[in-house]
Amino acid sequence: MKNRYFGEFGGCFVPELLIPPLLEVEAAMNEILPAPDFQSELDDLLRNYAGRPTPLTLCSTLSGELGFNLWLKREDLLHTGAHKINNTLGQALLAKRMGKTALVAETGAGQHGVGTSAAAARLGMACTVFMGADDVERQSANVMRMKFLGAEVRAVESGTRTLKDAINEALRYWISNQRTTHYCFGTAAGPHPFPTLVRTLQCVIGKETRAQFVETKGKLPDAVVACVGGGSNAIGIFHPFLEDLSVRLFGVEAAGIGDPGCFNSAPLNLGAPGVLHGNYTMLLQNNDGQIEPSSSISAGLDYPGVGPEHAWLQKSGRVRYEMVKDANVLAAFHHLCKTEGILPALESSHALAFVLNHPLHFAPGSDVVVNLSGRGDKDLGIVVKSLEGE
Ligand SMILES: Cc1ncc(COP(=O)(O)O)c(C=O)c1O
Repeated sequence: MKNRYFGEFGGCFVPELLIPPLLEVEAAMNEILPAPDFQSELDDLLRNYAGRPTPLTLCSTLSGELGFNLWLKREDLLHTGAHKINNTLGQALLAKRMGKTALVAETGAGQHGVGTSAAAARLGMACTVFMGADDVERQSANVMRMKFLGAEVRAVESGTRTLKDAINEALRYWISNQRTTHYCFGTAAGPHPFPTLVRTLQCVIGKETRAQFVETKGKLPDAVVACVGGGSNAIGIFHPFLEDLSVRLFGVEAAGIGDPGCFNSAPLNLGAPGVLHGNYTMLLQNNDGQIEPSSSISAGLDYPGVGPEHAWLQKSGRVRYEMVKDANVLAAFHHLCKTEGILPALESSHALAFVLNHPLHFAPGSDVVVNLSGRGDKDLGIVVKSLEGE
């Protein structure tokens, strides 16, 4: 396997039984994915099925309040409601070309599960989705959507009953079913080649943003901001700007409740390096190296690890990683609804909350793009509950 590290981060630390299917995915990524006929079929699906290109919306009311121009990259408008479909269509198509007949996936907020279920249905493949039992409860609308789309949803009762445990079970399932099944990994983490494969498929967000911005303003934006769970929407929008040092890049992690001693989902800010799910990266862990539970109001950010490329971008200093608390996330959610008529996912509200709470980071008149990674319909129950608790 080549190019599997980002600095010292990344790698492929997996049981031997997973090496053959990972090599198969790596070969497909290098040989099938770049081929013109594959790219044109994927482009057609992204355009005519998923709804690309997504708009870049200037928030006029919020920009007036903030004193700089706030733009939203509208991944919330994609089919199935989030950026996850960029990755699932790409991997499903790749799997089909590899001769697989089924997909397995993990999901946290359910958006990747819904994206995988839709891609499987569209391409005539079977689909099994593992989801932590706590997430099954808090994201029940997405569970229903996956079932209607033909997927089998398996609730995972082990561990913290969230995304980490769903990934463990999906990897186990893949070991036993690798001949027929592709593991459609949902974020830019996990063992090589997934961080590179998922980033390659999500880069469509950043490439489009760059072209749209240049077309509209004749220049690049001054800053790009994205929430970071495993890191796929963030690396997708950041990567095409990495060489443009005038563009400041901010990744935003979940601080959870934010009180000292309480759990959070901010491994880059509060973790230490270690190995989880096949790669060496920043992790929430105790002094013995045992993984600490994560916690966030948004199921999609509730993960104790992060993609290895983000660990490297933090270490190299190219991207700055910040944290926001649940309370600020909810306030940002309500503010965007009221000022701009857009209902954001709680994950994406983290990126927005950082900008709303730190306006002095951005010069007056500058242009700041927030990646609105998904829509908030799936989160209405959580927001209503938070209001009841007030
Ligand atoms: C809308 C949305 N944004 C962001 C994320 C976080 O994932 P990632 O960091 O891979 O973009 C999720 C995960 O489910 C999500 O549903």
